Amino acid sequence: MKKVLVTYITHSGTTRDVADAIAEEIIKTGCEAQVLELAEVKDSKEFDAVVLGAPMIIGWHRNALNYLKTHKAELAEKPLALFLTAMSLTESPKPDIPGVDLHLDPKLVAPPQKPGRFSFKESFTTLKHYLTPVLKAAPTSLKAVAFFGGRLDMYRLKWYDAVFVMLVVGAKPGEKRNWPDIHAWGASLPALLKLDSK
Ligand SMILES: Cc1cc2nc3c(=O)[nH]c(=O)nc-3n(C[C@H](O)[C@H](O)[C@H](O)COP(=O)(O)O)c2cc1C
Repeated sequence: MKKVLVTYITHSGTTRDVADAIAEEIIKTGCEAQVLELAEVKDSKEFDAVVLGAPMIIGWHRNALNYLKTHKAELAEKPLALFLTAMSLTESPKPDIPGVDLHLDPKLVAPPQKPGRFSFKESFTTLKHYLTPVLKAAPTSLKAVAFFGGRLDMYRLKWYDAVFVMLVVGAKPGEKRNWPDIHAWGASLPALLKLDSK
């Protein structure tokens, strides 16, 4: 039976719940899945595939990017999928990344307020802006990337994070996780990662 590591980083729990939902779907397809916070991962050698999720915290969480960079050689040996949780994703041309399936939660993507040009804030939430550093850090074994809506609950944040999000990011509090979309992506992962259930 193929064993998948579903690992995540979270500030306030949102991305952990998404990781749990994804693992649940992977298990339903006949694979094994273990959910671990990234800080608990000692070694990914015992796994046949890795799924890594983290929130957008002005760009993808830097510990997730660092993990990709520092474990690039190890990760290159097994299929990898990434998921990103965010409160805003501004529509911009979808890049063609050979061999990588790119999924965007249709409820998260929004067109720029003025067609054809991005405002200053929107230029920090485009697909290209989010994706470029991620693709640069990822190994060649990357098979899939998904963007999901997250949740912003000011009461769960440290006060300075709450102030930062309100003043700098300008994201409004709320729940944007689209569970049917998250579950559907989880169910499609064994095929995207080219794992059979044996
Ligand atoms: C300090 C901070 C910065 C954030 N920056 C962004 C951002 O640049 N773009 C975005 O769409 N969401 C941003 N968010 C929203 C988070 O990505 C969203 O709330 C996510 O679901 C949080 O996941 P977590 O609960 O797993 O930490 C930010 C949140 C915080 C607290």
